[in-house]
Amino acid sequence: MKKKLLGAILSAAMVMSLLAGCGSTAAETAAPAAEAVEEAADTAADAAADTAATVEEAAEKVEEAAADTGAAAGGNIKVGFAQVGHESDWRTASTKSCQDVFSAENGYDLSFVDCDNDEAAQKEAVRSFIEQGVDYIIIDPIIATGWDTVLTECEDAGIPVIVIDRTIDDSDKYVSWVGSDFLTEGKAAGEWLKAYAEKQGIKEINALIIQGTIGSSAQIGRTDGFNEIAKREGWTVLDQQTGDFTEAGGQEVMESFCKSYAGKFNVVVCENDNEAFGAMTAMDNAGVKYGPGNDVILISYDACTAGLEDVKAGKITADFECNPLAAPTVEGVIKTLEAGKTPENQILVPDNWYALKDQIVDFAVEGNAQKMIEVTDDVIAAQY
Ligand code: AHR
Repeated sequence: MKKKLLGAILSAAMVMSLLAGCGSTAAETAAPAAEAVEEAADTAADAAADTAATVEEAAEKVEEAAADTGAAAGGNIKVGFAQVGHESDWRTASTKSCQDVFSAENGYDLSFVDCDNDEAAQKEAVRSFIEQGVDYIIIDPIIATGWDTVLTECEDAGIPVIVIDRTIDDSDKYVSWVGSDFLTEGKAAGEWLKAYAEKQGIKEINALIIQGTIGSSAQIGRTDGFNEIAKREGWTVLDQQTGDFTEAGGQEVMESFCKSYAGKFNVVVCENDNEAFGAMTAMDNAGVKYGPGNDVILISYDACTAGLEDVKAGKITADFECNPLAAPTVEGVIKTLEAGKTPENQILVPDNWYALKDQIVDFAVEGNAQKMIEVTDDVIAAQY
């Protein structure tokens, strides 16, 4: 069509130049020349109309294609994800979930940085995403504070930030947070222990807590939640130290607890399953018996597959889930933004509480009755 339009315009121009350059009188040449001009102009007009229609159609198709892929420029959506590290089974599941969701097949270019539990490295990762000019930045904050400066830089660059899993407590410069309620997890563990101890006729609680990474919202919520119930019930918390959410950390802290508090404790609370794995090794080495029917009640968080296997094996007494599969919900936030709408600011991912049948007791958190799930082979097989 473009060729047709060009040809018509050239014909008209040639006729005009013929008119201008010829030596005949206007009267002689005017009639046939005028006809030729009119014909050429008609052809040009038709071609222009055709071309306009085609250009309009093409523009519509480009717009449709852009809407289909969700990228205004017609390419993949660029996402930067500053992940905490690789400290636990939970973290491995979270990383896999994000990489599966934000894949090239799904229309994303994912820049993934494992920050190895290093706060400075995590801020640098965010700054590198700004330099790359990504469309969205996802952050799982190692600790809850110190974020306002770098989030202001994201805001200035016009890049929306979505917070996943742990919270940011000293800045509101992010679009949405998607994750679990750590305080409720801690309170649930405490309320379950109260009901279970009553059922077992246990009068005195002497607890040791192996905490997660100090300053992370997962640690703060679980420690505060459990300690709130401990205080209310008059339990003794003998000690609390960090195992940094790792198996090695859990083992090291428990080795020291076994020496310092030998024979004095009847509850160990590990703030994730990997710490519980390490604590069990330490207790095995120290000859401490744990799990249902033994001296020590072992409470854990996360409820990953290996954690639930230890519940089934009668080692962990109760396991309080933290769901690592938040990435599909984060993608929902991005799709909402792509559609020009405003996503919810706080989105909770639901968790479940697990135990064997005999350890399931009725309890409530803040007046809300809780339901526990009995750990069976099927439940384990379906877990992350
Ligand atoms: O932030 C979630 C916590 O971090 C999980 O409980 C733990 O396993 C992880 O390392």
